[in-house]
Amino acid sequence: MDLYLDTASIKEIEEIASWGILDGVTTNPTLMSKEKGDYRKILRRICDIVQGPVSAEVIATDHEGMVVEAKDLAKISEHIVIKIPCTVEGIRATRRLSTDGIRVNMTLVFSLNQALLAAKAGASYISPFVGRLDDRGEEGLRLIEDIVTLIHNYDFPTRIIFASVRHPYHVREAALIGADIATIPYKVFKLLITHPLTDLGLERFLSDWKKR
Ligand code: E4P
Repeated sequence: MDLYLDTASIKEIEEIASWGILDGVTTNPTLMSKEKGDYRKILRRICDIVQGPVSAEVIATDHEGMVVEAKDLAKISEHIVIKIPCTVEGIRATRRLSTDGIRVNMTLVFSLNQALLAAKAGASYISPFVGRLDDRGEEGLRLIEDIVTLIHNYDFPTRIIFASVRHPYHVREAALIGADIATIPYKVFKLLITHPLTDLGLERFLSDWKKR
């Protein structure tokens, strides 16, 4: 499973990229709005660090506007993937962009039927937002399971991004269910490596070694 960082913070990306296991980054307008500076320069810098897929989202809500914006964002780097919201206009834009060879990450996916339409429109990635469904008392994990079945049943080339990760258990489930990618917030990413028994065990090994 590929691991992406869900952030636009250069500092966070540099830190996790230094571990050598970061495959990509997803941003969205909320995450971009937290960063100071020119957004194009920020995206270019992220692409330079990650050297893998970096999702950048359009702001336009009509398909013509989405396509214009997408083509402009795609010029920033070969690593840019265009995030398009899962609406009728988004599906129209995705069809056009995928035909033109521009990779789309269909975002704000909350149902199996939305995923089906996104895959049919040629989206390279689909992002079901698990945490936001869980927040409403709905079964986010069930949606991922269903989308994995859908993609396998019909052999769509679309990759599934487990998005809106809230805690390490989501990452565990993403791997077991068979999501292709999990996009993880910085704080959760840091939690993936920690375990109190690892710390305790290391402490004991080192103190025993000193006694020899
Ligand atoms: C995914 O690409 C989105 O940026 C992200 O996972 C949304 O997560 P949130 O529900 O924590 O905002």
